[in-house]
Amino acid sequence: MEFAVWTKGLATLAVDCLVLGVFEEGELGSEARSIDSACGGRLKKLLARGDFAGRPGETLLLGDLPGIAATHVLLTGLGQRKQLQRRSYRKAWTVAAAALTRTRISSCAVALERPDARQLDDYHLARMVAEVTGSALYRINDLKTARKPPPPALSKVLVGPVRRGAVAQRGLDDGAALAAAMSLQRDLANLPANVCTPVYLAEEARALAKRHSNLKARVLDEPAIRKEKMGCLLAVAQGSHQPPRFIVLEYQGSKKQQQPLVLVGKGVTFDSGGISLKDPPGMDEMKFDMSGAAAVIAALTLVAQLRLPLHVVGLVAAVENMPGGRAVKPGDIATSASGQTVEILNTDAEGRLILCDALHYARRFNPAAVIDIATLTGACVIALGHHHAGVMGNDEALVRELLEAGKRADDRCWQLPLTEEYAEQLKSNFADFANVGGRDGGAITAATFLGKFTQGMKWAHLDIAGTAYQGGAQKGSTGRPTPLLADFLLHRAGR
Ligand code: BES
Ligand code: MN
Ligand code: ZN
Repeated sequence: MEFAVWTKGLATLAVDCLVLGVFEEGELGSEARSIDSACGGRLKKLLARGDFAGRPGETLLLGDLPGIAATHVLLTGLGQRKQLQRRSYRKAWTVAAAALTRTRISSCAVALERPDARQLDDYHLARMVAEVTGSALYRINDLKTARKPPPPALSKVLVGPVRRGAVAQRGLDDGAALAAAMSLQRDLANLPANVCTPVYLAEEARALAKRHSNLKARVLDEPAIRKEKMGCLLAVAQGSHQPPRFIVLEYQGSKKQQQPLVLVGKGVTFDSGGISLKDPPGMDEMKFDMSGAAAVIAALTLVAQLRLPLHVVGLVAAVENMPGGRAVKPGDIATSASGQTVEILNTDAEGRLILCDALHYARRFNPAAVIDIATLTGACVIALGHHHAGVMGNDEALVRELLEAGKRADDRCWQLPLTEEYAEQLKSNFADFANVGGRDGGAITAATFLGKFTQGMKWAHLDIAGTAYQGGAQKGSTGRPTPLLADFLLHRAGR
């Protein structure tokens, strides 16, 4: 895939297709107006006839317009002019890119009306165009035996108009890296759990470290995990025939020794619930319970690819949660790596058990900040649905940074309160605390549990249970929250 900037002369540009925006009032964007005059008013005529209403989500492909070099023009709806914002631009290009992938068009110039520069500057515009293109081209790595349809022809996208070409080109490069990271995350998460096991994730991390010379991987096997005294992680793993793995990825791109950002991913490659077995409907979706781990691995390849001036460590706790004969039972008590004891009242609350040991492991890096990413609770899906991830933490500035990154990346999260009252619900008569606190406020009590292992570190938690994948006819990984994490990291790197 090639991304570049177009400058002058849209009408004479040697590409297969010009992508132009139309407003709902039947009004052309300014680039579209210039093309309209080049082709003798054909676009206006077509709008006057009512052939295209400019509604968001609408596209119309035209061929062989006179007076222009491109063989095609693709109109895409921008909605109402006064409501033109970053998100309407994104939507217009999303549907246009999808339409292009269904044709044999291989090169195009994107020339939509841009929202106010304060909303979308050259860098973010270019980054968005590249990111969206990557998502449009993504195909699930399915195991269907029928011959695969040929891949989309689209291989060159030019973006404009931009004021600062070099800045836009950097946006395109960052966006392309983001798209690649999202594809990696989605590929890993979409794999079935009989393929994507903890060992598979570890091998994948090793392979990625081989490919990027600035990325180091270390994998702890079961004896090494035992040496680290990760009793809670091992309690989850013990019901499965798949051995656990603890993965450490490290990227050092900062000049002087800098305290690292530590990203921690929940890597439950299948969550059956364990002895507290889940209901059958939708249980297959628990193969996505390693989405946080996939996002962490993807984020590390992104920083390595872009050689960002940062120090980043990725920790992945990879286990399978199964109800085998040796499985942990409700009422069992495990001792975490931190020394704190946990009464496991519900074996389906396993994410927090593996994360607590991973968060404790993060301490040795003396981190500047720790962010864990996890499909942690159904309660978060009830609270926020599928549009916002949940965010909580013990450091308001860090939480705010993530909220802002999510807005800029159109991959938003929403803060839930993490105040001391909720700790009541985790009281246990037999251990330091229980691993569940009842149904009420379930996303918050889960975070409260994690908070017991992060004292003294700047920490935030992203609950991505509602956003990391889709169910139903569109079942599959969404690639979220990689855009949010990428923006957070790029922002820290000064982009
Ligand atoms: N992986 C699930 C959370 C989840 C639920 C993710 C739905 C995506 C969609 C997690 O391990 C879990 O089972 N959580 C329990 C916690 C409960 C037992 C306190 C839940 O949310 O039901
Ligand atoms: Mn569970
Ligand atoms: Zn889970």
